[in-house]
Amino acid sequence: MRSGEVSVSTAPIGVFDSGVGGLSVWREIVRQLPHESTLYVADQAHIPYGPRPLDEVRRYAQGITRFLLDRGAKLIVVACNTASGAALHTLRATFPATPFVGMEPAVKPAAERTRTGVVGVIATPATFQGDLFPALVARFAATVDLRAQTCPGLVEAVESGALATPETEALLRHYLALMLVAGIDQLVLGCTHYPFLSATIAGIVGPEVGLIDPGPAVARQAGRLLAARGLASPRQRAGTHAFYTSAEPARLAAMARALVGYTGITRAARWAGDALVEV
Ligand code: DGL
Repeated sequence: MRSGEVSVSTAPIGVFDSGVGGLSVWREIVRQLPHESTLYVADQAHIPYGPRPLDEVRRYAQGITRFLLDRGAKLIVVACNTASGAALHTLRATFPATPFVGMEPAVKPAAERTRTGVVGVIATPATFQGDLFPALVARFAATVDLRAQTCPGLVEAVESGALATPETEALLRHYLALMLVAGIDQLVLGCTHYPFLSATIAGIVGPEVGLIDPGPAVARQAGRLLAARGLASPRQRAGTHAFYTSAEPARLAAMARALVGYTGITRAARWAGDALVEV
């Protein structure tokens, strides 16, 4: 770059998840970086990722990353704890020129904020199975009583728009009961679908329990990385957005509108072996 030259890039940020959960991160990216464009992929043909073997999730993450890079993505946000835990190392090794921002359960802020010394983490089975979670606990929460809980059915509830139904509330009460008895005062939302259940969760755990959603911190990190690499989009420009799903575009469109007010383009993509292709 010549001196005085401003390096900017109007290329999109790629964002992906197994479904609509990553929209809880996408909305923070758009709020904090309104001049950036985005491409969002929801791999709804394979949802949920959480109960799948890690190498299978890794294959999907690679296919989606290639799809996003083929469409010019300048940075990839893996807006899925499950895919980040399973694939982030491999993605960084496979695509060394691409900056990635991943998710991890926010154990560190929970351990810093707790006064009772008891923190809860809710996430998918795969997130707890990988190497990442035990490493986080050993590093940041060794002196904390940490209660980890998987929550089968919650991802499906969010995908079907059942954010506050009696069934979803009953599921949540069931999953949170033991950690509440144990005295948690921080609850880490370790799956990007769960922030859409925040109101229902808050109604159950009460105001004394802090809910930790890493979405805002992830968006800040994306902004920092773009700035550091000279890839930020010009501020006078408004970003444009396109969403893809490996299942039904009409369904994604309806959910994206309901969850984050998105009314833009929604397209179909299909898996052909390990490759995701636009329809
Ligand atoms: N939203 C994803 C996560 O953050 C995964 C949900 C799933 O497909 O199981 O872990």
